[in-house]
Amino acid sequence: MPEGRQVTARVAGLGVVLPERVLTNADFERMVDTSDAWIVARTGIRERHVVGTEESLATLAVTAGGRALADAGVEPEAVDLLILATATPEQPIPATAAIIQPQLGVRNAVCFDLSAACSGFLYALNVARQFIAAGEAATAMVIGAETLSRYTDYTDRATCILFGDGAVAVVLQRAPAGEGILETAWHTDGSYSDFISMPGGGSKYPPNVKRHIDERLPFIKMRGNETFKVAVRALTDVSQEVLEKAGMGVEAVDLFVPHQANKRIIDAVAERIGLPPEKVFVNLERVGNTSAASIPLALADARNAGLLRRGDLVLAAAFGGGLTWAAMLIRW
Ligand code: UT7
Repeated sequence: MPEGRQVTARVAGLGVVLPERVLTNADFERMVDTSDAWIVARTGIRERHVVGTEESLATLAVTAGGRALADAGVEPEAVDLLILATATPEQPIPATAAIIQPQLGVRNAVCFDLSAACSGFLYALNVARQFIAAGEAATAMVIGAETLSRYTDYTDRATCILFGDGAVAVVLQRAPAGEGILETAWHTDGSYSDFISMPGGGSKYPPNVKRHIDERLPFIKMRGNETFKVAVRALTDVSQEVLEKAGMGVEAVDLFVPHQANKRIIDAVAERIGLPPEKVFVNLERVGNTSAASIPLALADARNAGLLRRGDLVLAAAFGGGLTWAAMLIRW
């Protein structure tokens, strides 16, 4: 066994928050030239939750974090590490993880954000696992949270129908090898960085220049059809890679929890890796694509639906802007 693999991390608690406000496909029929039939057939999405004026990334993340601590029965002072995965932070400086630290009471935690778009949660889990395996942290919190609606161009029918907001936190604790996170495979290919992007709002096109707003640069752009094809290939390959790394066959998987971007992508990947529909968890019809919150939201929904029992083998796989992609095997 490679050094650092004798100890791993397991999920000790989960906390979820979805904003109350819901946008249905009928709402989009009134906003852009689209139809419920097109959206359902091409994506599988029917509803998504979006933040109201009083909410922000930080308010969602604090609520989710507090619920995860309560679910785990862990005191906030015990948390050594807080990683917040998001593509839509509260503000550029400081990190949202630092902003929420006092409200969560995790005053002993080192706090930082991680940017890997829709793969952010699995990237952050793997970073936290390594902190725990190295003995640098005993208890960690990882939050996947997004307020994508704040950067969605509601005049662009090709993207606006896709995204939703939400936040999910998990508390991670040390576990012996063979429990919790078993294996990870993760990749980045920046040569496709323009496939999913938000060009404005940063150093190249700063948000304090009116022309950048007029040109709609601080909004999410996606080359959807090309992204779709790469997503199917990458999610298939990385799922097979992680199983191979763990020396396991696909028949050992109890539940496949893929990134919830498009039902057609999920179906294509499940078929390619040889998983029957009853082992594939899908909740995108109710939440849309919530990027870094997508996989933990699906894990939480699966757990609440009684589909995730202690000891089950979960295969989670994510894909998103970067391009980034990752797969993880978790003994729940
Ligand atoms: O989370 C990160 C990873 N993201 C993904 O993996 C998303 C990957 N991409 C997708 O899910 C799909 O590409 C979309 C759902 C975004 C688009 O579906 P598509 O089947 O790839 O459609 P398309 O972009 O090829 O467009 C087909 C047609 C176009 O019309 P024409 O040119 O054929 O006349 C679009 O203008 O569909 C049109 N279209 C729409 N029509 C009605 C695009 N959006 C809409 C819409 N309603 N909302």
